[in-house]
Amino acid sequence: MGFAPRLQLRDSPGLSPVFPVTAPDATSQALGHPIDATNVTKPPRLLLLGGTSEAGRLAESLSALDDVVVVTSLAGRTASPAPLPGQHRTGGFGGSEGLAAYLRAERISALVDATHPFAERMRWQAYEACQQTGVPRLRLERPPWQPAPGDRWTVVATLAAAATEIAGGPSRRVFVTTGRNELRAFAPASNGRRWWLVRSLDPPERLCLRPAEVILARGPFSVEGERVLMKRHRIDLLVTKNSGGAATAAKLAAARELEVAVLMVDRPSSPGGPSADTVAEALAWVRASLGL
Ligand SMILES: NC(=O)c1ccc[n+]([C@@H]2O[C@H](COP(=O)([O-])OP(=O)(O)OC[C@H]3O[C@@H](n4cnc5c(N)ncnc54)[C@H](OP(=O)(O)O)[C@@H]3O)[C@@H](O)[C@H]2O)c1
Repeated sequence: MGFAPRLQLRDSPGLSPVFPVTAPDATSQALGHPIDATNVTKPPRLLLLGGTSEAGRLAESLSALDDVVVVTSLAGRTASPAPLPGQHRTGGFGGSEGLAAYLRAERISALVDATHPFAERMRWQAYEACQQTGVPRLRLERPPWQPAPGDRWTVVATLAAAATEIAGGPSRRVFVTTGRNELRAFAPASNGRRWWLVRSLDPPERLCLRPAEVILARGPFSVEGERVLMKRHRIDLLVTKNSGGAATAAKLAAARELEVAVLMVDRPSSPGGPSADTVAEALAWVRASLGL
């Protein structure tokens, strides 16, 4: 939401890696992985910026390898995060400077940024810290959802734009799935004549939408379940961020079947450099980067 990156975007930054040299291969080249390396930390230490199911699955895959230490970092937003293998730490680093200091102090050999597609600040800080320290970085981000025939999507750039769209539109019963921390953005569209169904993982601290009902739930959700929910509450507008992924895609299929309009908030911009769409690609990058 309006976060202005402090860096200019550059593709494939010229990093000075600090991990073992491996022969260039097709995977590493395709993923833009820097090839030269010296100064080995044994075993290599990988920092995984988490908070997504992809990060959990990557940590799981890496836990099968003996020759790498994986530290997953969580922001600490969720009261009951899913269990994770390997080491973890919780809480912010203190901006890009704090993260750069952490990378040096912990002798981190490579970083995978698997934070959520809408975790807007952290990706730029990770980019900046890796630029400063020369630690190779990969962005792991699941592909966005794409509209299918029959969909009634309106795509907006920000949550504020979504609120404006709702305020000026005909919807009366709105299903909001953007997360509890984003709800205040919709306050301008809460005029008392519009009913809200809010679904989130943890309870909203303060609900500024009225009248409203809150459902606490963790995906994955089924199309059948979503259809029943939307029908029961006579939903006429679904509001979602374009998070992508299978776990929460069922609401879109249900909306299509029920001909419910969808307000889709587009993703924020990302820094350049190596990126992967899938956990398998990220695993290949880690193996190639660390010579595993
Ligand atoms: N935004 C979403 O829609 C969403 C949805 C599901 C899960 N999540 C997860 O929730 C976390 C926070 O999301 P957000 O939207 O608040 O992110 P954000 O706006 O990008 O980050 C805000 C601040 O939180 C800290 N932070 C974020 N991710 C961190 C991590 N993995 N480890 C340590 N510190 C982290 C950083 O603090 P410092 O500056 O002090 O280092 C960062 O500046 C992320 O890990 C993300 O993957 C976000």
